[in-house]
Amino acid sequence: MHCHILPGLDDGSETEEMSLAMIAQAYKRGVRGLIATPHASPLFQSTSTETIRRMCRVLGQKASGMLNTEFPIYPGQEIFATSENLELLEQGKLLTLADSRYVLLELQPSAAFMDLFRVMRTVRNFGCIPVLAHVERYRVLYHNMEHLEELEYAGTLFQMNSHSLEGGLLDEKAHWCRELIKKQKIQFISSDMHNLQDRGPIGERAVNWITQKLPAGYGRALLAGNARDLLNIEAK
Ligand SMILES: [Fe+2]
Repeated sequence: MHCHILPGLDDGSETEEMSLAMIAQAYKRGVRGLIATPHASPLFQSTSTETIRRMCRVLGQKASGMLNTEFPIYPGQEIFATSENLELLEQGKLLTLADSRYVLLELQPSAAFMDLFRVMRTVRNFGCIPVLAHVERYRVLYHNMEHLEELEYAGTLFQMNSHSLEGGLLDEKAHWCRELIKKQKIQFISSDMHNLQDRGPIGERAVNWITQKLPAGYGRALLAGNARDLLNIEAK
C-alpha cells in the first residue's frame, strides 16, 4: 500500500520493464497486489488522477499477464502535506488509497510535532483516515512514544518501511522500529519500493522477523490483513 511502481512519474520506477521486474520480485516474496502511491509533492511534476488510474489499469493487466494470475494495482498517492495539497484532498482532487477513506501522508522528516498533529487532525476532519508514511523518519517521533501516542489518539495510523527493520543488532534505528512493532503501534508494513536495488521490494529478512517474532494475528495484519481491510477484500 506504499510503493512507487508507476513508471516515469516520480523518483520511483523509470520504465515499464523496471516496474514489471519489481513486481516479479515482490510476487516471489508473497505480494499479491499493490496500491501505487506516486508522490503528490512540489518536488515532482503533478500527474492527473485520471492518468494515475489509467496507468494502474495498464500495469495491472501487464503484471497479471506476466504472472499468469490476477495481480491488481490500485490507484493512490503519497501526499506531501502542503496546505495546497490538503485543499486539493478536501476537494477530492487527490487520490486516497484505493478509493478508500485512508490517505497516505508525508511531511518533512524535520517537521515540528504541532505540524504533524495539525495535519492529521485536518485530514481526520475531512472524514478521512490519515496514514503517516514511514513513521520512523520523523525526528520528533524518534524515541518519543508520548508524541506518537498523541497522534494515535488523534486517529492516525502508522506505516513503516520494511527496509527499516533490516538492520542488525547494533543498528539503533532498526531496534527502535522493532520496539514500535512489538508494542503493536504500527498498522502497515510496506516496502515503499522505488527500484530494484537500494529501495526494492520487501525483503525476506523483514518478512521472517515479522512472521517469527510477533503474535501470528498481528504479524498477518501488518503484512496483509490491514491492507485487505482497507480494500474490503476477504482473506483467501
Ligand atoms: Fe514513498
